Amino acid sequence: MSSATDSPATTPALPLHMRRNGFDPVPDLAAARENDGVTQVATPFGARAWLVTRHADVRALLGDAETFSNGWQRPNSDLSPEEAAELRRGNLLGYDPPEHTRLRKMLTPEFTVRRMRRLEPRIVEIVDQHLDAMRRAGAPRDLVTDFALPVPSLVICELLGVPYADRDEFQTRTGTILDTSLPEDVRRQASLAQRAYMRELVERAQADPGEDMLGMLVREHGHELETPDLTGIASLLLLAGHETTSNMLGLGTLALLRHPDQLALVRDDPERVAPAVEELMRWLSIVHSGTPRVTTTEVEIAGRVIPAGEMVVFALPAANRDPELVDDPDALDITRKPTNHIGFGHGIHHCLGAPLARMEMRIAFPALLRAFPELRTAIPDDEIEFRSYHFVYGLKSLPVAW
Ligand code: HEM
Repeated sequence: MSSATDSPATTPALPLHMRRNGFDPVPDLAAARENDGVTQVATPFGARAWLVTRHADVRALLGDAETFSNGWQRPNSDLSPEEAAELRRGNLLGYDPPEHTRLRKMLTPEFTVRRMRRLEPRIVEIVDQHLDAMRRAGAPRDLVTDFALPVPSLVICELLGVPYADRDEFQTRTGTILDTSLPEDVRRQASLAQRAYMRELVERAQADPGEDMLGMLVREHGHELETPDLTGIASLLLLAGHETTSNMLGLGTLALLRHPDQLALVRDDPERVAPAVEELMRWLSIVHSGTPRVTTTEVEIAGRVIPAGEMVVFALPAANRDPELVDDPDALDITRKPTNHIGFGHGIHHCLGAPLARMEMRIAFPALLRAFPELRTAIPDDEIEFRSYHFVYGLKSLPVAW
């Protein structure tokens, strides 16, 4: 990959993953969006990249997989190309068409809105069980460990066919994989361990396919998916399936607690719940920036010509707070007209699990708020700890009382 030389707008230390006051993109990021739209930054991979910040530009780049490729190898990696290719097997975010299309087609039927509706009663039950357990245990409780994390974890475990009893083990590894402040080799060891764990489950499903998603993939696509493909698909679904939604539930609850009028609307008016989830997705934008892309050809973004072979990253929090997208973008307003937010991404890599995540959030938020109408944080605001170094933004914990 060539390194760009002409860089009038270089902000190497731009903290893509940081927030101001817990929720807002840092002012530098908003300034990058207002001033240049595209600027050069250092990435956690040690390489420089072009950072795209405006909503229309990010949407356009996500919509153009031919120019902005996902199928590239990390620079400065000490893996051989063969090892890197092996690690990428089955990971939808590491492929371009036609391989991406082939894999995604096998999974799409499992995530339709209709299929999700069938899951609904079980999700309601899981949510209620956890709320009952919180009530029985009594205040204060940590909303993250008692509710936000276990609910989506149990859902994805049941859906995929992963034993929930193994949660401590795989959640610890997921935390390591996503923590960009840790050394690369530590994170890679965690990835390899996660794949080894998943491979065992895949081999079990191959020997005796059950009724879960792994069993379905083996039965219906076993002839076209090799063990490493299945392992990669299942590893991605397990990680994406619990780490994201849990952060939305934790951080979303805190956001609502800080906006009591809007919290009351979500609690009391079922019509408000779906729009509230979309507005929280926009306002929180918990995925700081998805997978970096690499340009396959020279391309112009926000008036700048980017050569072929350059790494391009994008800031979803900046794009979703773009005044060109919505009026008063920094205000959380669940009553606003639907926006075209890209909190789930856009284009061919648009979040596969969005229907599941939406259903979980639409069930969990009102159920929590109705179960505990007096819900409040149990520690002072300035003691609440955010996880700012992760790819996915969230809370370390959220002590609550009621
Ligand atoms: C992709 C966000 C929940 C599975 C993505 C992308 C975003 C995203 C931004 C695109 C990344 C990119 O283009 O680089 C979220 C958020 C979630 C959530 C905010 C929760 C609120 C889930 C769940 C699952 C899931 C529950 C699975 C059960 C995936 C997969 C992809 C993806 C497999 C890759 C799709 C592809 O490459 O074709 N997600 N996600 N996500 N997500 Fe989600």
